[in-house]
Amino acid sequence: MCGIIGITSNENVSADIIGALRKLEYRGYDSAGIAIHESNKIFQRKVKGKLDNLVKSLELEKSEGKTGIGHTRWATHGKPSERNAHPHSSPYVSLVHNGIIENVSDLKNLAELEEYSFESETDSEVITALLSHYRKEGYAHIDCVKETISKLVGSYALAIIFSDQKESIFGAKNGSPLVAGINNSGTSLGSDSIALSSVAEKVCYLEDGDIVVCNKNILEIFNIAGEKVEREFVDIGFDETDISKGNFQHFMEKEIHEHPQAVGETFKQFIDHDKGLITVSDFELDFTSFSRIHLIACGTAYYSCLVAKYYFEEYARIPVDCDMASEYRYRNPVLDKNALCIFVSQSGETADTKAALDYSKSLGIKTLSIVNVKNSSIARESDLCMYTKAGAEIGVASTKAFTAQLSVLLSMAIHLGTINKTLSENQNKEICHEIMKAPTLLEEAIKRSYSLKETAQSIINAKGVMYLGRGTSFPLALEGALKFKEISYIHAEGYPAGEMKHGPLALIEKDLPVVCIVPPGELFHKTVSNIQEVIARGGKILMITDDDTLQSGSENIWQVFRLPKSPKSIETIIYSVPIHMLAYYTAVELGNDVDQPRNLAKSVTVE
Ligand code: F6R
Repeated sequence: MCGIIGITSNENVSADIIGALRKLEYRGYDSAGIAIHESNKIFQRKVKGKLDNLVKSLELEKSEGKTGIGHTRWATHGKPSERNAHPHSSPYVSLVHNGIIENVSDLKNLAELEEYSFESETDSEVITALLSHYRKEGYAHIDCVKETISKLVGSYALAIIFSDQKESIFGAKNGSPLVAGINNSGTSLGSDSIALSSVAEKVCYLEDGDIVVCNKNILEIFNIAGEKVEREFVDIGFDETDISKGNFQHFMEKEIHEHPQAVGETFKQFIDHDKGLITVSDFELDFTSFSRIHLIACGTAYYSCLVAKYYFEEYARIPVDCDMASEYRYRNPVLDKNALCIFVSQSGETADTKAALDYSKSLGIKTLSIVNVKNSSIARESDLCMYTKAGAEIGVASTKAFTAQLSVLLSMAIHLGTINKTLSENQNKEICHEIMKAPTLLEEAIKRSYSLKETAQSIINAKGVMYLGRGTSFPLALEGALKFKEISYIHAEGYPAGEMKHGPLALIEKDLPVVCIVPPGELFHKTVSNIQEVIARGGKILMITDDDTLQSGSENIWQVFRLPKSPKSIETIIYSVPIHMLAYYTAVELGNDVDQPRNLAKSVTVE
């Protein structure tokens, strides 16, 4: 994964590099490093651990240079350590890399690299070795880059400075994202546009095969054939306040509070106010031509797909398959030419999802992506793209992006149902009316969820937590368990309530917390029976339901948490709030790093 940055400017760049790395820390935070050209040397610092450690080390010794590169790491090859931290440098060159080089052992055996003494366990250092070799042989700087990347198999986004070229940064990209930026005082490179928000006014999303040369006053891009190319630069379009915590203690807390806005803004795209209907017709997609839908994603985005299977099958009566992107292309799926493949991703950069998209495209299947980050790789590479309007999501644990994904998928299902005539126009209108209530209901759900802080205090010592639900509450149970384990580090498992007696009931022991998601409706009583089976074996039930369900279901229940009564169509969206809040409060109570949980990174750009 990792985040890379390169800045060349009229001003000192050290603070700007650190500022940009802060914005990239979501991509990895187990070590960090910086290399800056100074008058007679390259100044380099590398530290293990978070960026704050690098900042502290720079307080002891400042750098005054105006051209430099930086890196924040998520370890793939080689454990987190100062030695494995980037930049990887030689007397000729310093380099930061995001991606994975797959042919490292072949390259290390090349006669050209015989004399190079490797210092780290990383795959990236082999790139430094190659660049150094070509420079030593007298190749021009850009030719060193060209020759080197021609030997690499794998993915890379690179920012490179040469010891004898003080004012330039060279970049190259294949598979991993790289954005180039320009403003009045200089040019820059970064893993995403957010990182460049304080050093660029305009950005360009580079393409695979591009080589870029950044100088203070000019930025030139060359394609794989070495020809100079013109690429489009667009306004960066980020407001710094989008990426600050505001008055909240954590990004995750802020982002949970932004569920109403994320859902409201996302639905807004699909509401035809004149007709009072939900329609996605602006998206130039002839939905009538599709016989089947494949929904493909990872993690939380995958759980939004599992919920959407219920939406599409219920409202549009169209068959849906859901796949985890990491499994999809390796299981040789049977794909109908008339199928639509939908890829769901907050970041738009998840390597497995992107690889699944490439695979579907190679089979000639129509592709649509549902993405939060504008102009991200998946957004650009799919045939069509719909955006979730969740705004920047910085906390590693996804929250508001999940409810925004459900909002797009629900709107599509309603639209498709109306076209397929499995839903009448009146039913569409009714649901449209319900959808408009979502932001207010979410606000109320947030207020009520403050009480879960106390609940969290009493589960921090639990050995594990189970999450149960039926219908769309089952994938929501999976989402609850994922969120809980990723930030509390306590094992959690989501399960369909009705399946418990086929095995997992054996896990229930005295006082094991079991979170049951039980909205009213036809499955309510069946789920209450499953709850009683858990209680009979000593489990401690937290029942999440609404104001409208009978008190009679709640005998012997440890705690009942009630949400405002919500329409069926948007129920899962509203019920997401306590699910996210419980995980958040538990992690805070445990003193964990909520926004940057151990071993994880937000944008998973390696397969
Ligand atoms: C969990 C979480 C991850 C992501 C997954 C996919 O809280 O955030 O499971 O949902 O890595 O990421 P995107 O949506 O960026 O493709």
